[in-house]
Amino acid sequence: MEKDLLKKCRTYESSEASKIPSNERPPLHLTPQIGWMNDPNGFIYYKNAYHLFYQYNPYDTVWGPMHWGNAVSKDLIHWEQLPAALAPDSESDKEGCFSGSAIETKDGKLALIYTGVKKTAEDKIAQIQCLAEGDGLDFEKYSGNPIIGSDQLPAGCQECDFRDPKVIEAEDGSYVLYAVNRTSGGKGQILVYKSENLKDWAFCSVLLQNDCNLGEMWECPDSFTLQGKDILIFSVQDVRQSDRFDSGNIAVYAIGKYDYQSHQFTKEQIFQIDRGLDFYAPQTIESKDGRRIMIAWLQNWDICNYKANNARWYGQMSIPRELWLKDGLLYQKPVRELENYRTNKTEHKGIKVEDRKISLRGVEGSCLDLTIRVDGTRADLFSIQLFERDESYARVYYDFNLQRAGIDRSRTGSPRAFLHERSCEYVPASGSTIKIRIIVDRNSVEAFFGEGELTLSMSIYEEQPHSGISFYCKGTGIVDVECYSLQ
Ligand code: FRU
Repeated sequence: MEKDLLKKCRTYESSEASKIPSNERPPLHLTPQIGWMNDPNGFIYYKNAYHLFYQYNPYDTVWGPMHWGNAVSKDLIHWEQLPAALAPDSESDKEGCFSGSAIETKDGKLALIYTGVKKTAEDKIAQIQCLAEGDGLDFEKYSGNPIIGSDQLPAGCQECDFRDPKVIEAEDGSYVLYAVNRTSGGKGQILVYKSENLKDWAFCSVLLQNDCNLGEMWECPDSFTLQGKDILIFSVQDVRQSDRFDSGNIAVYAIGKYDYQSHQFTKEQIFQIDRGLDFYAPQTIESKDGRRIMIAWLQNWDICNYKANNARWYGQMSIPRELWLKDGLLYQKPVRELENYRTNKTEHKGIKVEDRKISLRGVEGSCLDLTIRVDGTRADLFSIQLFERDESYARVYYDFNLQRAGIDRSRTGSPRAFLHERSCEYVPASGSTIKIRIIVDRNSVEAFFGEGELTLSMSIYEEQPHSGISFYCKGTGIVDVECYSLQ
């Protein structure tokens, strides 16, 4: 019985996944082998390759019994799908193998540390932390699971909301685990556990608790140091709209001081990571050459019914992004490996766009890396329309008067009245000139403003992505465009 569910899943994958034509997927964003994908899990550089697991329901394009999908890459852009790594097939995880992380053990194995969901004797949900070890392809669940059970929760914690372990190795070779929890008073918090061997864990501290009215449950924690500053990343459910945070489910970063003796984090500031419509549950790693790289689920729990009706896959990851800090803010740009996929460069300089829409020779396609500079000294609004045909398009825009940057997919043909547009205040460092780099990849748009101080991302689920691109200015904008096809 033990391995039946995994076997069933792997057999299903190998007979069904190849029926999805590759031209029905975005070429450069990781999508599930088949079925549904949510959070990135177990992101790690292991034995000369990047491994990325993901929350996965192979059998349908909706969330369901959580497995772990498995993909591997040499360069973070081109991913090869491997057979699923985990299925909900043991006593500790019958109700699902939820999110978690990966770490290389001292004897060279790949350890997956994840949340097992199970029913208690009173038929309630308990979330417990589990271990599986393997070689990157096949994993054996630890017979002593759970490695952290409900009985290891400190007083005042709810066992039904205790998940998403992120494990890191400390400088002394011991292990530190971060997991999220909800207090009985309803507050999201991040707990810290310590271990010498990945199997026996002891509760250590509450790293950070929601003392600032930031949403409800917190999810998917991550912790690292960047240019001498301590950063925590986590995702937040049920946020209310304010100037700094968008409503719904968002991913945030806290900058502050991490006390490694007491394992407590004193936050200085919290910011939203991406101000678009779809960006959740990010995880980071340090690459072999020392870059901090983040990948996220390019989707939003509130709009999971926004999809193409007939596709047999749903959900995608963001383009992995390099992170750095400048003036206390997190900057992001697509990993430099993406540049190896650029072809057919087209450049236009000093184009005057004045109160009308224009298209530019050679600037078209549904898989592009575009960089646009607009001198908006005499412009009110600039917009670039993507996936355009007739009245249908998605757009990225900047309102020079209101100083707001936005993305909008309301006209991509969706018959659903979901939230399809988002904008936020943005004051460009370079006065009235703006720079936007936009990665367009069939089912998504990721816009990086300035040097990467603001990003706005959204998924797009048109039936047939169109390849038209046009530029519009209200007032007069002087526009430079550099466009590459990506393949
Ligand atoms: C975040 C999340 C995690 C959980 C997983 C379940 O998107 O809710 O907290 O482990 O998804 O699929």
